[in-house]
Amino acid sequence: MEKSLQRSVLLVTLSLFFFSIPVSLSVPFVLFHGIAGECSNDEVSNLTKFLNNYSSSPGSCVEIGNGLVDSLYMPLTQQASIACEKIKQMPELSEGYNIVGLSQGNFVARGLIEFCDNAPLVFNYVSLGGPHAGLSDLSKFNCSVCELLDIYLSDVYNDFVQDHAAPSGCFKIPTDIKNYLEHSKYLPKLNNERPGEKNSTYKDRFTSLHNLVLIMFEKDNVLTPKESCWFGYYPDGAYTPILPPQKTKLYTEDWIGLKTLDDAGKVKFVSVPGGHMEITKEELIKYVVPYLQNESTSSSEI
Ligand SMILES: *[C@@H]1O[C@H](CO)[C@@H](O)[C@H](O)[C@H]1NC(C)=O
Ligand SMILES: *[C@@H]1O[C@H](CO)[C@@H](O)[C@H](O)[C@H]1NC(C)=O
Ligand SMILES: *[C@@H]1O[C@H](CO)[C@@H](O)[C@H](O)[C@H]1NC(C)=O
Ligand SMILES: *[C@@H]1O[C@H](CO)[C@@H](O)[C@H](O)[C@H]1NC(C)=O
Ligand SMILES: *[C@@H]1O[C@H](CO)[C@@H](O)[C@H](O)[C@H]1NC(C)=O
Repeated sequence: MEKSLQRSVLLVTLSLFFFSIPVSLSVPFVLFHGIAGECSNDEVSNLTKFLNNYSSSPGSCVEIGNGLVDSLYMPLTQQASIACEKIKQMPELSEGYNIVGLSQGNFVARGLIEFCDNAPLVFNYVSLGGPHAGLSDLSKFNCSVCELLDIYLSDVYNDFVQDHAAPSGCFKIPTDIKNYLEHSKYLPKLNNERPGEKNSTYKDRFTSLHNLVLIMFEKDNVLTPKESCWFGYYPDGAYTPILPPQKTKLYTEDWIGLKTLDDAGKVKFVSVPGGHMEITKEELIKYVVPYLQNESTSSSEI
């Protein structure tokens, strides 16, 4: 009698053990959509579900404000700060998480990583089509609700435009660097680019990533230059040549820790053949899914 009681206690303990562990192991991910997108649209929700399924990790698209309209007109500083507050209210992320950024959503993602105080740690960050070093031109950008945006962006460093057109925050006109550094309200801060105003906290936070995956689209028809997705860009003052990431000052002077991460083998520079954001399932499985499959080492030692 006593023996069988012991046995059943043991079995109960064992089954708790086996059933509780796998659930707590997966690191969750969050996804940030691009301009003129929203979490509820088919493309974004299909992608989120696809990544959920193939990585076996819980993940969700985090919406900023009202979605589509705010993605066009809410300044990126505010978008990143909303993301910061939302993330801190998601208890499932408190032990750390991974991020997938789509196009402009990468500016929200990177703002979250660099600027958000008392936030949970980000392990892996996968950037799809994020023009991290800047955008020089959006004339090929095409969306049905963007007429107003076009007018705004013709005077991109104007104070009103900076406050009312989201992508104005990531414009960097190579022949107008003075105005960019003085009047752009987002990218110079995000890239720790202003001389005398570099904040080492932003660099420390970015450098603490375990993996940074930078995906560029070879036939990108929206971003100029497409190399910006790898942090490559034009030199100050000219439209030629396009500098590879390792030849930019952001890298050589290590403004945000890209060089440190690269030296440690933590940056994956990936190029896929499609146009802007045209990625195949096979490419997602190869370049994105593996970085969402990390399992927490702290629970696995139990
Ligand atoms: C999303 O998935 C549904 C169901 O699998 C499919 O019918 C639909 O065409 C997909 N939409 C896009 C934009 O991929
Ligand atoms: C879910 O993922 C598995 C591989 O992990 C795959 O075989 C299956 O087809 C996927 N299901 C859907 C609906 O995509
Ligand atoms: C922009 O959209 C219009 C209509 O939606 C289309 O006819 C045109 O080809 C598009 N241009 C580019 C560069 O994609
Ligand atoms: C740098 O950023 C951190 C985090 O946001 C902030 O607490 C600190 O005051 C900033 N330092 C300077 C010199 O601005
Ligand atoms: C996976 O997550 C753990 C923390 O739970 C971390 O220590 C480890 O470095 C991560 N591995 C990768 C490849 O990100």
